[in-house]
Amino acid sequence: MNNVPKFEATPAITDVTAAVSQSGVCVINGCAEGAGISLEPLDALFAGPLAKDYPYGKVVREFGTELQSHIPHIFSLVAGHFPAEVSSFFGMSRLDAVFLTHDFRNDQGVAPNGYLHFDKIPTLKFMLYLTDCEASSGAFSCIPGSHVVGRRLRLESPDDNIIPESNSPLSCFHDMAEPITGPAGTVIVFHTDILHYGGRVEDGRERIVARSHFR
Ligand SMILES: [Fe+2]
Repeated sequence: MNNVPKFEATPAITDVTAAVSQSGVCVINGCAEGAGISLEPLDALFAGPLAKDYPYGKVVREFGTELQSHIPHIFSLVAGHFPAEVSSFFGMSRLDAVFLTHDFRNDQGVAPNGYLHFDKIPTLKFMLYLTDCEASSGAFSCIPGSHVVGRRLRLESPDDNIIPESNSPLSCFHDMAEPITGPAGTVIVFHTDILHYGGRVEDGRERIVARSHFR
């Protein structure tokens, strides 16, 4: 992740917007310092009626603000004032959804977000690692600066959003993706035009992630 702009919590909004404008992504380290993050409420959420199965494990998807009362600190880190201000800069000020995912399985094949892709709907996302995340535990991976080519590809053909692994001039991108690893409390801000993938957990590994979508 040498080419990914990095900041320590809490950076200036203008520094984050400049980094995401230029690179399509940035990392903010140490967001869980101070108040810390308790995983206990997450266990209840993943075991409760809001949680659904998905190919990598469990997901809680929340369109409103119900999660805010369960996990106020986590919610504020991905969907509070700071993310909202950054998103407004990009004209994407509407909070579309907040997700909690617990990725722990790899026996269901690869989910669409496990392949190198841009998103069909342009979105600004804030991803918070709630467990330490190595490449083997499904770290978010991307090609810094590829949001420019991703945007062009999306405008040309939004439904062809997965980068072919072979037999395509685009296949060379597969060797360029960098995993963004980090301890719990690492926040990744990215525009989904960037070429990216994530969630490919290896045997016995796991990750818990909170993620917000602004459009
Ligand atoms: Fe995506």
